[in-house]
Amino acid sequence: MIESSQTETASTTLKYGMVGGGEGAFIGDVHRKAINMDGMADLVCGCFSSDPENTLRTGLGLGLDPARLYKTFEEMAVAEGKQDEPIDFVVIVTPNNTHYPVAKVFLENGINVVCDKPLTVTSAQARELKELAEARGLAFCVTYTYTGYPVAKHAREMVRNGDLGEIRFVNAEYAQDWLSTLLENTDQKQAGWRSDPTQSGASNCVGDIGSHIESLVAFMTGLRIKRLSARLDTMVDGRVLDDNASIMVEYDSGAKGLYWCSQIAVGNDNGLKVRIFGSKASIEWAQENPNYMKISYLDQPSQIISRGRDGLYPGAECFSRVPSGHPEGYFEAFANIYKPFITFLMKQKQGQTTLPEDQDFPKAEQGENGVRFIEKCVESSKNNSAWVDLD
Ligand SMILES: NC(=O)c1ccc[n+]([C@@H]2O[C@H](COP(=O)([O-])OP(=O)(O)OC[C@H]3O[C@@H](n4cnc5c(N)ncnc54)[C@H](O)[C@@H]3O)[C@@H](O)[C@H]2O)c1
Repeated sequence: MIESSQTETASTTLKYGMVGGGEGAFIGDVHRKAINMDGMADLVCGCFSSDPENTLRTGLGLGLDPARLYKTFEEMAVAEGKQDEPIDFVVIVTPNNTHYPVAKVFLENGINVVCDKPLTVTSAQARELKELAEARGLAFCVTYTYTGYPVAKHAREMVRNGDLGEIRFVNAEYAQDWLSTLLENTDQKQAGWRSDPTQSGASNCVGDIGSHIESLVAFMTGLRIKRLSARLDTMVDGRVLDDNASIMVEYDSGAKGLYWCSQIAVGNDNGLKVRIFGSKASIEWAQENPNYMKISYLDQPSQIISRGRDGLYPGAECFSRVPSGHPEGYFEAFANIYKPFITFLMKQKQGQTTLPEDQDFPKAEQGENGVRFIEKCVESSKNNSAWVDLD
């Protein structure tokens, strides 16, 4: 198939602001580029850094009106909430400990929120944000990036459709090596805050990448973790938080799982891989080769399906953007989180009926589940890897 399956650019655009993502930051720029991909929302304001000079440089570089570049996120939330046409949503891409106060003040000022993961540093904060958004009738999206890949969505549809039979076991890992040395003792900013419990929360490795495993497996399988036993290790001398974790889980269905996340796995970049074993078939998907998935039915040769060539379920196919063999990746996955979210907001704004598929983006509920998972891993590990219930 060689034609594009995508609808064209929307006729109206929404307006958004950003907190974080200043000069020298990592993920904010990825969000901006991913949002631009579908041309459905324009960046109009920001507080890109706690350093106002950085915010000014970043904002002017992005062509924004200096009057809408703010010294603090509180000032931005209040001022934007009072505009004749307030921004339709804010994107929060700051270190973990700031997500809660930033999201809270924007919700309080009537603004829809997109927040990067982990949603907050405590599950009580996450629950409060979820309830606040519900009470105000505001949309809340948590950017669990990897759930945006079309093939990951196809895995979800296969499980929903019973193609794998009853799920028995899940094996998932996220292996990186970028913290194999004490990088936080250099001026590497991303390593600095992630290794600092006051900014990162009670866990570094589980919070940063174990949370991606939890969200992606929950997304693909629909299984809820009932209890877990975790061992968090700090392998690099002098480091304060965990850099490697081994986690056994039991789901409410009775299925079992084994997760491993590591930032000291020499030779690995962003090795997120999920294998789901059912009574009829298994699937294996790896983030670094995201356009393909291995499917094995019992007593049959394994097959590799290819996004764009082999038909995916409709709920996945509609997210495929270019023909097979032209790799789609990280930016497209991010854009696939934003596309339904922005469509949902546009329809709401125009008084149109919204469809269930317009809400195919991770929400505060998934964000809260993620933070509870991190908390319970830390609790278990502190108690000699005792089994702890999630509810
Ligand atoms: N979804 C993903 O795949 C993914 C990937 C990377 C990071 N993240 C998450 O995104 C967040 C940011 O991570 P990063 O690696 O981009 O960090 P970063 O350190 O590169 O960027 C953080 C930015 O926030 C700004 N900032 C800090 N405090 C601020 C404040 N009070 N007001 C305004 N701006 C402030 C900093 O100046 C910087 O520009 C983290 O929560 C991280 O877990 C998610």
